[in-house]
Amino acid sequence: MGERLRVELGSRSYEIIVGERLLARAGTYVAQVARGNRAVIVTDENVGTLYLHRLMGALEEKGIGSLPIVLPPGEQTKCFAQAESLMETVLEHKPDRDTLIVALGGGVIGDLAGFAASILLRGLDYVQIPTTLLAQVDSSVGGKTAINSRHGKNLIGSFYQPRLVLADVSVLSSLPRRERLAGYSEVLKYALIDDAGFFDWLQEHAAEVLEGKAGALTRAILVSCRAKAAIVAEDERESGKRALLNFGHTFAHALEAETGYGDALLHGEAVAIGMSLAFALSVRMNLCPEEELLRVMRHLAQCGLPSSPLAVRANWDVEALMEHFSRDKKVRGESLTFVLTRGIGKAFVAHDVEKELVRQLLIEHLRPAPLDIAK
Ligand SMILES: NC(=O)c1ccc[n+]([C@@H]2O[C@H](COP(=O)([O-])OP(=O)(O)OC[C@H]3O[C@@H](n4cnc5c(N)ncnc54)[C@H](O)[C@@H]3O)[C@@H](O)[C@H]2O)c1
Ligand SMILES: [Zn+2]
Repeated sequence: MGERLRVELGSRSYEIIVGERLLARAGTYVAQVARGNRAVIVTDENVGTLYLHRLMGALEEKGIGSLPIVLPPGEQTKCFAQAESLMETVLEHKPDRDTLIVALGGGVIGDLAGFAASILLRGLDYVQIPTTLLAQVDSSVGGKTAINSRHGKNLIGSFYQPRLVLADVSVLSSLPRRERLAGYSEVLKYALIDDAGFFDWLQEHAAEVLEGKAGALTRAILVSCRAKAAIVAEDERESGKRALLNFGHTFAHALEAETGYGDALLHGEAVAIGMSLAFALSVRMNLCPEEELLRVMRHLAQCGLPSSPLAVRANWDVEALMEHFSRDKKVRGESLTFVLTRGIGKAFVAHDVEKELVRQLLIEHLRPAPLDIAK
């Protein structure tokens, strides 16, 4: 049996179920929310090879027939062309209003399938079966769906809540360690935003989470989803509190844009660096004791996550990064909006961060360490 958690959004409320070997029992859970007996499973090649048959079998056991659509893996799949081809394929099979879309995969599949579900026949129900740690603690919860445009990431999308999220921790065993670590960064984010007790717990249990121990993973995912669900329930469409979830993300997005959203820097790695920079900026503004920054940096180092952009490459263009902040819809004259912190578990949104201060911080943090020629 999985642990259940409810996202309270009135008539759009739904459950997140977290636990081991849920995929094999997916038919039971999905049947509880399905309006009909037909489903379309959207997945990618990597996840499809590993888990598609198990899911199709589990649905079949409960009388739900499914059409699988297998897409190429990777961020490039979140595009207009794939969205079009996905939706045309679904339509070829003559769906009706009761056809259920099931997203089986990481954030790429969840975002794309959720977006397609939101506009197919003006909205089909969908279920998220996230298979990366990042998707289990973040992208599958909260109902943000999107594809990318040539003008930027996630610029085309909708707020559209799933009917159910099934987070099976067992499927994380096949996830490459680097992806698991990147997902862990979002887990840590919830602790740093407003849960110092969770940070203490993570300090004790990070190794178990990263090794894939089911008990520790289930706990970490549940606490993370509960944190996100609470914020989403209060601010579904990101007009206020939901912005806290962007802790570390303004820096992260700029770093990712500069590295081209590829293997050079995964999103979670960028978030780890971004959270360190947010702490460093808060220390510089005398909002946060330096010891708190050091605690966070020590934890990141223990886990094997980067805390400085210099861990990724030596030469960064500060002005290019500043440009990204300005484009990030977060400018008011000479001020920028950042999520800052007064310490671990004490994040808040600040609309009045001076651009110049941020520039100075970056210049200091991005200066390569001088070669010690005396040695
Ligand atoms: N909607 C939101 O609120 C939200 C929040 C955060 C991130 N996102 C989006 O999520 C996306 C990133 O998601 P992601 O990190 O899950 O990446 P992803 O979906 O690309 O998955 C990462 C890689 O892992 C593989 N994979 C997935 N599950 C696996 C498993 N169990 N075993 C082995 N391999 C597996 C995938 O095939 C892929 O190659 C981005 O597009 C980002 O914009 C959305
Ligand atoms: Zn993120």
